[in-house]
Amino acid sequence: MFANAKFWGRKRRQDPPKAYTLGISDFYGRDFIVTPDVLIPRPETEQIIDTILNLAGKPYLPGVKPSKRALPPNPTILDVGTGSGCIAITIKKELPEAEVHATDISKKALQTAQKNAQNHGVHLSFIISHLLNNVKFTPDVIVANLPYVDKDWDWLDKESLSFEPAIALYAADHGLKLIKELIDAASSKYLILEADPCQHQEIINFATKKGLQHLETRGFILTFYNPQA
Ligand SMILES: C[S@@+](CC[C@H](N)C(=O)[O-])C[C@H]1O[C@@H](n2cnc3c(N)ncnc32)[C@H](O)[C@@H]1O
Repeated sequence: MFANAKFWGRKRRQDPPKAYTLGISDFYGRDFIVTPDVLIPRPETEQIIDTILNLAGKPYLPGVKPSKRALPPNPTILDVGTGSGCIAITIKKELPEAEVHATDISKKALQTAQKNAQNHGVHLSFIISHLLNNVKFTPDVIVANLPYVDKDWDWLDKESLSFEPAIALYAADHGLKLIKELIDAASSKYLILEADPCQHQEIINFATKKGLQHLETRGFILTFYNPQA
């Protein structure tokens, strides 16, 4: 969750990020409505889409040979903590054969995600839930960009982040509370998580102890496989 060009593009640091002023932000080449109730999508999160396309055996970069398909032909994919809906909607646009579901604990975030789904002409189901509590099925893949920022990181630019909802950014236990809780609760074949690289080793150790296999690290994105699922 870094401040990037979308933030530095402001005249003054104390001004709201441009995406909130415009009410629109780009993700994977598409426009998404953003309100102060949702996180502004970040470029590092786009690699979740590349990861899914790669698992589905689809090309995701011109010139990069696709992997062998690991997912079933019509995979069920759940995005936990959907915010603006940018991940779930982009997955549905890029992989229309997938059945895509999205959850968030914030009702206002889900309302924004629903508007974005309508604007992009895709059908997804939206579930209000703390993590997987209200999810009554087991998807093939769970993707999650949950809050993982630790308030005590001394490199944080809290002023820049102050415009975004705290519930979308911060988590207890050095930023890992929700990620660890999700690892405990998830029983999908694949689990794809975003976290700061400084947290990756601790997440890998935690997930490995739970019987998950670490398949790949791609930028901020970790992919795990559950051989028991
Ligand atoms: C880092 S934002 C990610 C938003 C969006 N997926 C993206 O990548 O731009 C985290 C999202 O998780 C949601 N969230 C926070 N705590 C949650 C919980 N306990 N269960 C489900 N969602 C939660 C927040 O409301 C927020 O929308």
